[in-house]
Amino acid sequence: MEKGELIYMGKAKSLYASEKDGELISCFRDDMTAFNGEKKDTFSGKGAYNATVSAFFFDYLEKNGVKTHFVKMLDESTMVVKKMTMIPLEIIARNVAAGSITKKLPFTEGQLLNPPVIVTDYKDDSRGDPSLNDDLILALGLLTKDELLALKETTLKINRLLYDFFDELDLILVDFKIEFGRYGDLILLGDEISMDSMRLWDKDTKESFDKDVYRYNKGNVMDAYGKIVAKIEEWKKEHLK
Ligand code: C5P
Repeated sequence: MEKGELIYMGKAKSLYASEKDGELISCFRDDMTAFNGEKKDTFSGKGAYNATVSAFFFDYLEKNGVKTHFVKMLDESTMVVKKMTMIPLEIIARNVAAGSITKKLPFTEGQLLNPPVIVTDYKDDSRGDPSLNDDLILALGLLTKDELLALKETTLKINRLLYDFFDELDLILVDFKIEFGRYGDLILLGDEISMDSMRLWDKDTKESFDKDVYRYNKGNVMDAYGKIVAKIEEWKKEHLK
């Protein structure tokens, strides 16, 4: 399958046209950015790590009843996805307080959030991805009331599935960000599910195995990502015989 013209270049992924109608080719690049693009680097193999992990989770979620844009892998850093119209929302689920929530609100890092907290940010770098409440989402016409309810339920379901999965690997899923898009009448999970878009802590030591390693210079980010990939590979060997 040949890549067509470049349609969109994000901070870490490039989207190309596909020879097949209704599909796109998503290439996970080795670029890494943080703080709205202020910090930038390239790490060889990072695209492959994130594509492999995303493909695994899209497949895992599909098997558990969540509809996603994932079609198939073309190579270790490239996947075919369904062509959607993205909904400009970053939906964040939090199980433990960390990151922006501890800066904007009086939560302490590591504080348990039970039940989990879902926050919705408007995806717009020029505005600093401002937080939206339900009324603003409806007023902006981004979703209907029913769609908003359904997306929150789906997000909680994804959170439960991923939380339990990582729990088995002795990791805490602190938080993650997902995005959805429209595909005909359906709303599908899109974008990626990778170490770039979640926080993962070791259950005992609370060491980070995610983009915070890069954001806050906590060590070698490729080693951290590699450990998650290795744990998932081990899980696959045990469970997908
Ligand atoms: O920055 P904040 O603490 O709000 O991030 C919450 C979670 O969402 C983190 O796992 C972070 O990596 C992810 N996130 C993301 N893309 C953004 C903002 C947050 O993947 N633009």
